[in-house]
Amino acid sequence: MRRIGVIGAGYVGLTTAACFAHLGHRVVCADVDRRRVARLCRAEVDLHEPGLARLVAEGLREGRLRFVVGNREALSDVDFVFVCVPTPTGEDGSADLSAVRAVLREARELMAPDAVLVIKSTVPAGTTDRAAAEMEGHQVVSNPEFLREGHAVQDFLQPQRVVVGASVESAALRVLDLYSGTGAPVMVTTPTSAELVKYASNCFLAMKLSYVNALAELCEQIGADIGDVTEGMSLDDRIGASFLTPGPGWGGSCFPKDTKALLSTAESVDVDFSLLRATIDTNEHQPQRVVEKVRELLGPVEGRRIGLLGLAFKAGTNDLRDSPALAVAELLAEQGARLAGYDPCVDHGPVPVVSSVEEAATGASALLVLTEWPEFAELDWPDLASRMARPVIVDTRNLLPRDKVTEAGFTLLSLGTPA
Ligand code: NAD
Ligand code: UGA
Repeated sequence: MRRIGVIGAGYVGLTTAACFAHLGHRVVCADVDRRRVARLCRAEVDLHEPGLARLVAEGLREGRLRFVVGNREALSDVDFVFVCVPTPTGEDGSADLSAVRAVLREARELMAPDAVLVIKSTVPAGTTDRAAAEMEGHQVVSNPEFLREGHAVQDFLQPQRVVVGASVESAALRVLDLYSGTGAPVMVTTPTSAELVKYASNCFLAMKLSYVNALAELCEQIGADIGDVTEGMSLDDRIGASFLTPGPGWGGSCFPKDTKALLSTAESVDVDFSLLRATIDTNEHQPQRVVEKVRELLGPVEGRRIGLLGLAFKAGTNDLRDSPALAVAELLAEQGARLAGYDPCVDHGPVPVVSSVEEAATGASALLVLTEWPEFAELDWPDLASRMARPVIVDTRNLLPRDKVTEAGFTLLSLGTPA
């Protein structure tokens, strides 16, 4: 049993805290957000993460997990401090490290000399080394997090890898020991390489998706089918089958900011990473491409009601941060469309939210599938068609069963498939 302080009670911090408590450690999780802490003390979890609420309740009940406002307790009287605060995009595209820096300033005052500071937030290469230089003798270690939203607990407890970057081997081993209950493959490297593993992984996945999205556009022009093309590609195990589904663009709280931050790092050392710039540009073009598809079927959208199916940035989460669905909605709204959004996990947002697919469809001139919730593939198509002003669907996730949908009288457009 180790004493662990976790700073930040968001997706990463709360998962880290609840999972380490589950693995038998004694955890204090701190946040500056009083309301969030008050709710967590009552075992109320706002994040849509399977298993997380159960682990929070278990930790509180068994006395291994506590939530506190302010960082003092989580920085003093602990063996490890995990920094899990946000690192959003700054004005110049680089990662804004102000929250990390604020925690480091407090940590320097409050941490015990033999405690290890672990940076789990995604931070640019060099940050951990600079923090170590400022931390006057404390061990500072990089331990990037690779969890996916919607799978946070599973990814933390059964990770595909635990990467630790440390300049002192004993500190790396102490951190790895915390994960011994997970049986995960581990890797120890320098802090700078560990930091880059994180960005390189996210940016590679984003690049794969931009490649597929551009390929889908090409398929439309030359009469190929992206589903068949990616299926054929995926039979090569060097390519693999994952991250080959086209969509309205990749979003969420990490890919957009991490691609920009890595590009900014490259620019800061005069490396021309045009591949990464193209990855971002291709993605920024996707929402406009979706709107063009809607216009292809409807003409001008002004005054028309359009039902949006899915608002979250992907299925399995209620996270709206940097959601491509909202980017599409914004463009449609700018052109005068009247929107009604439905998402099984979202009850309010920046567009009018309704409480069922049927409500979104009623009186609509088009439905737009923007998030790949599996239930959208199993709707009552004839019923929906009868509710709409025009039975038209744009499926940006290539999720719907084409035959059933068209048999019900719909005109269906998806991405990368012949019209
Ligand atoms: P989040 O916004 O969900 O949570 C961050 C929490 O930190 C918030 O509750 C906020 O109130 C708190 N906070 C901010 N400043 C603080 C301070 N000075 N002291 C104490 N608490 C403070 O963020 P997140 O999604 O958990 O991301 C955190 C970091 O982890 C980021 O660097 C992100 O890139 C990285 N990351 C996120 C994911 C993910 O899936 N969300 C996955 C891997 C890595
Ligand atoms: C991603 C990474 O997968 C995690 O490993 C990483 O830890 C995390 O970012 C992070 O650093 O925050 P996440 O943001 O939860 O996780 O989402 P993903 O499942 O990776 O999806 C990212 C985006 O790509 C979503 O908008 C999703 O809809 C899109 N996507 C994904 C596609 O359009 N097609 C696909 O085939 C797969």
